[in-house]
Amino acid sequence: MSSRSPQPAFHIVTFGCQMNKLDAELLAAALARSGYRQVAEPEQADVLIYATCSVRDHAENRVLSHLGAWRARAGRDPHFVLGVVGCMAQRMGQEIVRRFPHVRLVCGTRAFLRVPGHLDRIAATGEAVVDVGEEDFAFKRDPGLRSERHHAYVSIMRGCDNYCAYCIVPYVRGPEVSRPPGEVLDEVRRLCDDGVVEVTLLGQNVNSYGKGLGGPPYGGLAGLLELLNDVPGLKRLRFVTSHPRDMSEEILQAVARLDKACEHLHVPPQSGSDSVLKRMRRGYDRTRYLELVRRARHIIPAVELSGDFLVGFPGETEADFEQSLSLLREVRFQQSFIFKYSPRPGTLAARRPDDVPEAAKRERNQRMLDAQAQVDEQRRGAMVGRVVEVLVDGANPAGAGGRRLSGRTRGGDIVFFSDPAVADPEAAGRMAGELCRVRLTGATPLTLFGERCD
Ligand code: SAH
Ligand code: SF4
Ligand code: F3S
Repeated sequence: MSSRSPQPAFHIVTFGCQMNKLDAELLAAALARSGYRQVAEPEQADVLIYATCSVRDHAENRVLSHLGAWRARAGRDPHFVLGVVGCMAQRMGQEIVRRFPHVRLVCGTRAFLRVPGHLDRIAATGEAVVDVGEEDFAFKRDPGLRSERHHAYVSIMRGCDNYCAYCIVPYVRGPEVSRPPGEVLDEVRRLCDDGVVEVTLLGQNVNSYGKGLGGPPYGGLAGLLELLNDVPGLKRLRFVTSHPRDMSEEILQAVARLDKACEHLHVPPQSGSDSVLKRMRRGYDRTRYLELVRRARHIIPAVELSGDFLVGFPGETEADFEQSLSLLREVRFQQSFIFKYSPRPGTLAARRPDDVPEAAKRERNQRMLDAQAQVDEQRRGAMVGRVVEVLVDGANPAGAGGRRLSGRTRGGDIVFFSDPAVADPEAAGRMAGELCRVRLTGATPLTLFGERCD
C-alpha cells in the first residue's frame, strides 16, 4: 500500500483525432471532479496519462517511445502512475503492460470515465489495472472544463459501422451509437451559457447521425442542425467528419439555409481511382464523388471543401495515384490531409500485401502536397478583394504590419487582420469570440491578410 498526496497532480498527453481530444477533456473533468489537479508539465505529474491513437503505425510508435522514456522515473518514484487510454489501449490492452511493466493503467475507449476509480485501486494495491471493457461509457461532460474559451467540440455519436478496408477505427471505437438530440441540445445550451460561441459537432460519420434513434421527430443531422441553430449565444456551427456516401440533400439544404451553419464540409475522398475506392469499400466512385461536389456547390455557393487522401493503398498503381492527383486539382480543396497507407492489424486491407514500396508512398505523398500547395496559392489569391465574416480567435502571435488580430472565415481559412481600434495584444485578446467584417487585402500560401471594415 502506498500513500498519495491529498490532491495528486495529473497531466494528459493527447494524440490522434478531435474525438480523442474531446475524450481527454472529459477525462480531465472526471479527474478534477475526483480531487485531482491538472498541471502543465508532464514532469510535475503524479499521474501521467497518454490518450492514444491507432490509426497509423507511426502514431503508435511515437507513444511507445514516449512510454519507454518514463521507465527511469517510474523505477525511482513508487507513487508515479503512468497510464494509457484511448484507441491504442483498446487495441493492445494487456500487451502494453507486458511490453512496458512500468505502465500501471490501461483503459479503453469506452471505459475512460472509470479512470478515477482505477487510480484509487492502484493506490490501494500497487497493482496495474487493464480495463478494455465496453459498458459504462457516457457522453456527459462538464461544460466548464474545456481547452478553448469560445469554441467547443460536442460529440453527437460514437463508433463507426463502416469498416473501410484500411481503417482500425470501428475495431477500437466500437459500433456507431448516436446521442439523443435533446441531450446534444442541452449540452450546447450549457456551453453557450458559459461563453462558447462556436461548436463543432463530432462523429466519425456525422452524416448518418440518428441511425438507431428512430424516425421523425429526430430528422438526422439536418434536423439536429436546425435544432441547434436557435441556441442563444451560438454564432457558428460546424460538423466533422462527413462521409461522401451519406451526404444527403437535406444536410446540404440545412447548411445553405441556417445562418449559423458554416459553409465548410470535410468530405474525405481517400482516392480518386474507382478500383481503389472499391477495394477500400468506400461505397462511392469518382463520378458520384464529383456529383456530390457539384451539388454541394450548387446548393451552397460559398461552400469550401476539405478532404483526406490515402496514398499507397495495396495495389495502387501509378495510374490509380494520378486519378487521386487529378481529383485533388479538379475539386480545388481548401485543405487536403494526405496520409501514407499503414497496414492495421485485423483490418481487411491488412490481409493483402502492403505492396507499394515506402519510397513510392513518400513520393506520391509529396506530389499530393505539392499539388495542394498550388491549389492553395490560386484559391487564396482569388479571395483577395472580398469582404468576409471572421470570428476572432485572439491576438495574432506575429502581429506584423499592425495586423494584431487572428480569426477564421466561415469557410475555415485563417485571417490575420488589422483594426484601427485595436492597438495592442491585450486589446486583441479581448476581442476573442467576436464576429467582424474583414476586407481581404493579401494572401500567402497559408494565410490571408485583411483589414476590418465594419
Ligand atoms: N471517419 C473519418 C476519418 C477517420 S481516420 C472518415 O471516414 O473519413 C482519419 C483519416 O486517417 C482517414 O480519413 C484516412 O485518410 C486516414 N487513415 C485511416 N486509416 C489509415 C491507415 N490505415 N493508413 C493511413 N491512413 C489512414
Ligand atoms: Fe474509418 Fe471509414 Fe469509419 Fe471513417 S468511415 S472511421 S475511414 S471505417
Ligand atoms: Fe481518432 Fe486515432 Fe482513434 S484517429 S478514433 S484517435 S484511432
